[in-house]
Amino acid sequence: MSQPSARKHITNTELLAMKVRGEKIVSLTAYDASFAHILDKAGVEMILVGDSLGMVVQGQSTTVPVTIEEMAYHSKLVSRGIERALLVTDMPFMSYPDPHSAVENAAVLMQQGHAHMVKLEGGQKILDSVEHLVNQGIPVCGHLGLLPQSVNQLGGYKVQGKEDAEANIIIHDAKCLQQAGASAIVVECIPASLAEKITQAVDIPIIGIGAGVNCDGQVLVSYDMLDITVGKRPKFSKNFMLEAGNVADAVGAYVSAVKNKTFPSQEHSF
Ligand code: KIV
Repeated sequence: MSQPSARKHITNTELLAMKVRGEKIVSLTAYDASFAHILDKAGVEMILVGDSLGMVVQGQSTTVPVTIEEMAYHSKLVSRGIERALLVTDMPFMSYPDPHSAVENAAVLMQQGHAHMVKLEGGQKILDSVEHLVNQGIPVCGHLGLLPQSVNQLGGYKVQGKEDAEANIIIHDAKCLQQAGASAIVVECIPASLAEKITQAVDIPIIGIGAGVNCDGQVLVSYDMLDITVGKRPKFSKNFMLEAGNVADAVGAYVSAVKNKTFPSQEHSF
């Protein structure tokens, strides 16, 4: 009997191999099939259905109101636009308060949203959930540094890990997430020097956003780098539409800039 035709997607082991080779991993967010198709064709290896959709698609002020059904819906749309990229989908606020709920909700993202991997925010507090997800065969991406789902607790969108004590906790959290079985970690809004230390301290890929050039890869909110986000663009993002005539060229310029380490520059780092 012939095998069903399986499209060849990037896998978590390929991301690991890229880290070993020192090849930068390129990631961007997408929320629908058309954008996902452009990103996939441009060579973006990891497409993230971020809960940032609460802000850039739904026009809300934080990611907190985003639901599991909305994440599954947008993940399903994105899955239809990609052939090669790894599809990572955010688990939204309060969808992983305990290991059992985490697995139940991650299953929704994988079965209805066709996610290949799910992303959760936090360190020590979510280790049991991460371990349980991995034990059930669900690949996990961690998220450390600025945790947008905890913005009400953090008192705003601020750079994290500037003090030694806080930096050491983030490094420790990264090691614990690796130990719990995470396949990758996003680090957001932390000093470049701290991101470099984390990248060296663990074997799994570290994907930075506002974390300097010395991470294993970079991710941005696509609407920020295409300059279509309403309001002020974050300091760590760059308007790639300025020199590009169209969306595909802007995404291509971002892919090249990450691969050849010209993005992020000092100007986009802390
Ligand atoms: O929700 C999102 O878009 C994210 C990125 C900021 C990494 O988590």
